[in-house]
Amino acid sequence: MNVPLLDLKAQHAVIKDTLLPRVLALVESQQFILGQPVVDLEVRVAALSHAAHGIGVASGTDALLLPLQALDLKPGDEVITSTFTFFASGGAIHNAGAKPVFVDVDPATYNLDPSAVEAAITPRTRALMPVHLFGQMAALERLQQLGERHGLAIIEDACQAIGARRKVGGEWRTAGELGRATAFSFFPSKNLGGWGDGGMVVTSDEAMAARVRRLRTHGGIKTYFHDEVGTNSRLDALQAAVLLAKLPYLQSWSEARRAHATWYSGALAGIAGVRTPATDPSNEHIFHQYVIEADRRDALQAHLKERGVGSAVYYPVPLHLQPCFAALGYKAGAMPNAEAAAGRVLALPVYPELTEAQRSHVVASIKAFYGA
Ligand SMILES: Cc1ncc(COP(=O)(O)O)c(C=O)c1O
Repeated sequence: MNVPLLDLKAQHAVIKDTLLPRVLALVESQQFILGQPVVDLEVRVAALSHAAHGIGVASGTDALLLPLQALDLKPGDEVITSTFTFFASGGAIHNAGAKPVFVDVDPATYNLDPSAVEAAITPRTRALMPVHLFGQMAALERLQQLGERHGLAIIEDACQAIGARRKVGGEWRTAGELGRATAFSFFPSKNLGGWGDGGMVVTSDEAMAARVRRLRTHGGIKTYFHDEVGTNSRLDALQAAVLLAKLPYLQSWSEARRAHATWYSGALAGIAGVRTPATDPSNEHIFHQYVIEADRRDALQAHLKERGVGSAVYYPVPLHLQPCFAALGYKAGAMPNAEAAAGRVLALPVYPELTEAQRSHVVASIKAFYGA
């Protein structure tokens, strides 16, 4: 049986009758740059995140970069982020002209460990960038306290966590609600994915919204008049039309992912050598990825491949050990939790359309590997 890590064709088959007319309407309008679909999506994603503004940009990477640029970071300024994340989190800090400061993660959730963050704060720290990894939110309330105490902006990397929620002080808060600005990615594999690259910044800070809006159009709101040097980073209207058609499904897709995750965790419980993912009890996880830890991980992955089961390692090398950041001087062993996770994590298929037979095949294949 074939169980790919992700099957976007299965998703497309379900939604194409509602999606294709919207895309055709955009094609007929020939209004490919900004325009109504982008505005409509900005309004809806901001509302979903309980934020005042949405600004569509070209990618999740730019959705991190532009808010960082809006902080006017100077050389030597520091931004603290997780070492266990997709490269863009660290790359955006570097490209915004600041020094990325990587810290270790909580071994259960792989999200920023607030005490490691506190220990890394220096007089040069300007911002904290929590990454809501795999679809569950970081301990934002504790990072917020640190931010308030030290005067730091919080830029949320919610590229994997659109619609994720966390109970803070007894109230549900959504990714994008609490940070100064938050980045979402619409990369095709995301819970809400386009037909190519795309991203969005959400914020309730008026000045931040105005700056990001300006930076995405070469630093000027009025065409040919430039207040600062920005870039060309607009969300494509074609992508916005696709995403608008998919948005009504997002919640049920994330619920289906959660249901698959609950089922997997029950079925995999008790297999010696496998650790199922931990959800912080304060979180409503959207399971962008369902990531186990496994003894003999690479051999398990090869075994799954032979049985037609797709899987992936997110992420094999923490950012503090990436060659491009060697000049920052981190050594192997500096971040034990992330380094241990990098050798053990394995993402299993968790896309919404996964069938029970496919899930059972994944679990049976894992059991066969461990002789369970
Ligand atoms: C945690 C994280 N940050 C940033 C990004 C960058 O998003 P994009 O690929 O849309 O540029 C991604 C997407 O893969 C991500 O997973």
